Amino acid sequence: IKLGILASGSGSNFEAVAQAIKDGQLSAQIQVLIYNNPDAYAAVRAAKWGVPAVLLNHRDYKSREDLDRQIVQTLREYDVELVVMAGWMRLVTSVLIDAYPDKIINIHPSLLPSFKGSRAIEQALAEGVKIAGCTVHLVCLEMDSGSILMQAAVPVLPDDTPETLHARIQVQEHRILPAAIALVASGDF
Ligand code: GRF
Repeated sequence: IKLGILASGSGSNFEAVAQAIKDGQLSAQIQVLIYNNPDAYAAVRAAKWGVPAVLLNHRDYKSREDLDRQIVQTLREYDVELVVMAGWMRLVTSVLIDAYPDKIINIHPSLLPSFKGSRAIEQALAEGVKIAGCTVHLVCLEMDSGSILMQAAVPVLPDDTPETLHARIQVQEHRILPAAIALVASGDF
């Protein structure tokens, strides 16, 4: 399956997918990385892996729809079949959703439906939950909603900071994101 990955930040999940493909654990190709933040380290990782990286800076577009139209055009240019949001920090519109029905997935650092949004880890710590985790789900218009494909849980330890908890969650993200891609590719969900 031909993947297009959308990332705004570090891109460790992008790299986990690239590594899973290289290791033969996932039968897929990364056609393109799209990133919206000029400083995203994900672009450095893409260069290292020889994956084309396209910067679409949201500040250059008048509306979310305009950005999404350019994203769709880029995904089509690169012949993408499945869109993977891996730390993509922009709300999506129907322009993107309708172009790839049931073919957009997202990874989120909580056990959804708890703690939607961009402060999931801080909120989990503030609530004092003892189990945290991550979720891969189909993307629909409502943020961090859509059918759940895969989840993994981790313990919250007494001395956790957002950083230590995030690191523990990311180990699981790097495992379940390639697995969820394989699940979608198989059509078995
Ligand atoms: C991940 O924790 C993901 O769940 C969240 O953003 C983070 C991205 O990490 N949506 P990275 O850029 O893949 O390292």
